[in-house]
Amino acid sequence: MILTTGGTGYIGSHTVVELLNAGFEVLIVDDLSNSEKEVVQRIEKITNKKVAFEEIDLKNKEKTFAIFEKYPTINAIVHFAASKAVGESVEKPLMYYENNIGSLINLLQASAKYEINNFVFSSSCTVYGQPNVLPVTENTPRCEAESPYGNTKKIAEDILKDTAFADKTFKSIALRYFNPIGAHPTGLIGELPRGVPANLIPFVTQTAFGLRKELSIFGNDYNTPDGTCIRDYINVVDLAKAHVISIKRLLENKNKSNYEFFNIGTGKGSTVLEVVKAFEKSTGVKVNYKIVAKRPGDIEKIWADTTYANIELGWKAETGLEETLASAWKWEKNYRA
Ligand code: NAD
Ligand code: WQD
Repeated sequence: MILTTGGTGYIGSHTVVELLNAGFEVLIVDDLSNSEKEVVQRIEKITNKKVAFEEIDLKNKEKTFAIFEKYPTINAIVHFAASKAVGESVEKPLMYYENNIGSLINLLQASAKYEINNFVFSSSCTVYGQPNVLPVTENTPRCEAESPYGNTKKIAEDILKDTAFADKTFKSIALRYFNPIGAHPTGLIGELPRGVPANLIPFVTQTAFGLRKELSIFGNDYNTPDGTCIRDYINVVDLAKAHVISIKRLLENKNKSNYEFFNIGTGKGSTVLEVVKAFEKSTGVKVNYKIVAKRPGDIEKIWADTTYANIELGWKAETGLEETLASAWKWEKNYRA
């Protein structure tokens, strides 16, 4: 049984679908602090399979340990549960360290007690900051975190590395996501909008739907082809599949060391304006926008070199930007229906 923490969340829910499709039994643990329980039924509708669900806050050590008593067949963990809003982390650093690090420690202590030695972790390209050399490989040095959120990812990676060094039976893989976007092709699950979206794609789809007057593009005088920032936008289903491959790698003991990390991106960078144009082309819907001042903390450009994941994991992003943006639009319309 695969314990998927944060499994009713955006990336977790798409990964649960792929794990079920791959034949795994799945337990979701989520405190519903940033998702809805209805997602469980939507996952079951997509896959026509049952998934176990427990509403637990992983900051609660006792309740976290109790999960492993109740589900003795857990043999691997995919850990998505965390707080992820960069701006909020700057205002509330202690909440982010308590949740993102506290929950991880509880989970790892329970893993040690119940001898669960297969652990896949959600990391982020944010650990690279603004790289001097592009594209980013796994040899690119991590840099000073740009936010408390980004620091929780760096610290978490170090915790996994140190745990693997101390316990040679413990195997872990950190997946450094670039910019996950899009939604499941059924339009039944996607990124849940909570308040004003901080991320680009939800803001684009909400603007296209008429919920927002216009998109503010944060700066157009960067050193890029059209002056807007460059990111590596990866389809969320392609990203989910990388987790299934990683879990299988650990369960089949194919890992080369007991702490590995991989860049999970498309290998292609797109500017903000290119994304807007691609959305309009793939959906036929115009997006109103205006250029405004740069957003503090934004890096100029980053995209991945995915050679290592392609070769070692046998994983490659398969879905193009326009198809991915069309899936985000389908989800937005379905969610608002
Ligand atoms: P999300 O907020 O949609 O999902 C996170 C889930 O974890 C939510 O369902 C939330 O309710 C749950 N959760 C949070 N704290 C919890 C706790 N203490 N106990 C139990 N459940 C808890 O976020 P997401 O976009 O799916 O991100 C999933 C993971 O991927 C996170 O670790 C995030 O940092 C990481 N990540 C996300 C992105 C991105 O752009 N979305 C990029 C890189 C990395
Ligand atoms: C993408 C681009 C903005 C909104 C963040 C976190 C990162 C990870 C992914 C968790 C940037 C521009 C955006 C808008 C805009 N999350 N933009 N107008 O900042 O690359 O990464 O989410 O791990 O840690 O930092 O993603 O979607 O916010 O922005 O012009 O309304 O779109 O300037 O260039 P970002 P984003």
